[in-house]
Amino acid sequence: MLPLVVLLLGSASCGSAQLIFNITRSVEYTACNESVIIPCFVNNVEATNINEMYVKWKLKGKDIFTFNGALQKTTHGDKFKSTKIIPQKLLTGIASLEMDKEEAVVGNYTCEVTELSREGETIIELKYRIVSWFSPNENILIVIFPILAVLLSWGQFGIVTIKYKSSLVKEKTILLFVGGLVLTIVVIVGAILFVPGEYSTKNSCGLGLIVIPTVILILLQYCVFIIGVWISPFTIAILILQVLGYVLSVVGLSLCVSECNPVHGPLLISGLGIIALAELLGLVYMKLVASNQKTIQPPRKAVEEPLNGMWLLQTCIFFLIYYPIII
Ligand SMILES: *[C@@H]1O[C@H](CO)[C@@H](O)[C@H](O)[C@H]1NC(C)=O
Ligand SMILES: *[C@@H]1O[C@H](CO)[C@@H](O)[C@H](O)[C@H]1NC(C)=O
Ligand SMILES: *[C@@H]1O[C@H](CO)[C@@H](O)[C@H](O)[C@H]1NC(C)=O
Repeated sequence: MLPLVVLLLGSASCGSAQLIFNITRSVEYTACNESVIIPCFVNNVEATNINEMYVKWKLKGKDIFTFNGALQKTTHGDKFKSTKIIPQKLLTGIASLEMDKEEAVVGNYTCEVTELSREGETIIELKYRIVSWFSPNENILIVIFPILAVLLSWGQFGIVTIKYKSSLVKEKTILLFVGGLVLTIVVIVGAILFVPGEYSTKNSCGLGLIVIPTVILILLQYCVFIIGVWISPFTIAILILQVLGYVLSVVGLSLCVSECNPVHGPLLISGLGIIALAELLGLVYMKLVASNQKTIQPPRKAVEEPLNGMWLLQTCIFFLIYYPIII
């Protein structure tokens, strides 16, 4: 009887020589992970040679990856060509599976490890989490500032067409109008592409469409100043401020556009804010000057008109023709 008990105990202890895993219930990945690693740690590996190890990863009952240590052979499932483990790390118990994000699918993955006669398996769920590219607040500011600036620009256009109707040639108004319209449409399209969600080419293009064309605002404001109030130190200061804002936002854009986790959002946003501010100052200034200027306007305009007209026309035509090409 005694030998049998010993035998039973012996076999029981042998049976308990299972591989023990560190349990990880689930791991997450987002649009920002270029590759995905599903962890699988064996706590009590005793093998001293990789020949003794065999690893199999399964998803929904199908083998997606196997590693045969004895043959040093790896196999991949059809849609999992990028799957890999690091064989050298197997002896330390690490059988984690790595694959490209493009091939990753959410689900319950089974990691099955065999070491000579001992074996074990664990299940890890791979989940996908949607993360917004910029934070919600940043999203709002990035869209609001350019739209505000465009609206203020239309306000300037309104003042110019109403107050200086007599001195305006029709083509100039049309050019300003077309420039404003193009800008409005591009910014709206950009905002629509940009707003919903995760980092993607679509969102990056949207952001580019919002930020880059704001240079049109500077040109429109310049044209409007020339028609309305001519150039004064104050308008020059406003234009310089706006150029500064534009430079900041373009630098911010270039730093953010290739980053899945953009840290330079505030730079971009302050640039866009300055552009909108310059637009606001321009509008206020024009309103003030326009209400003071009524009496002195006709003689002044009469002198400056030919020069301004030519210059404005050239600038606007140059700009309208070359802008799409530059883009
Ligand atoms: C696995 O768990 C053990 C004990 O809880 C711990 O000491 C070890 O560091 C863990 N291994 C890994 C790779 O996390
Ligand atoms: C995704 O990337 C994050 C941050 O780099 C990392 O902590 C996480 O483990 C990755 N997820 C997976 C499943 O690889
Ligand atoms: C994975 O398994 C867990 C627990 O059994 C279950 O709640 C979950 O829905 C499964 N996930 C998928 C994607 O099948």
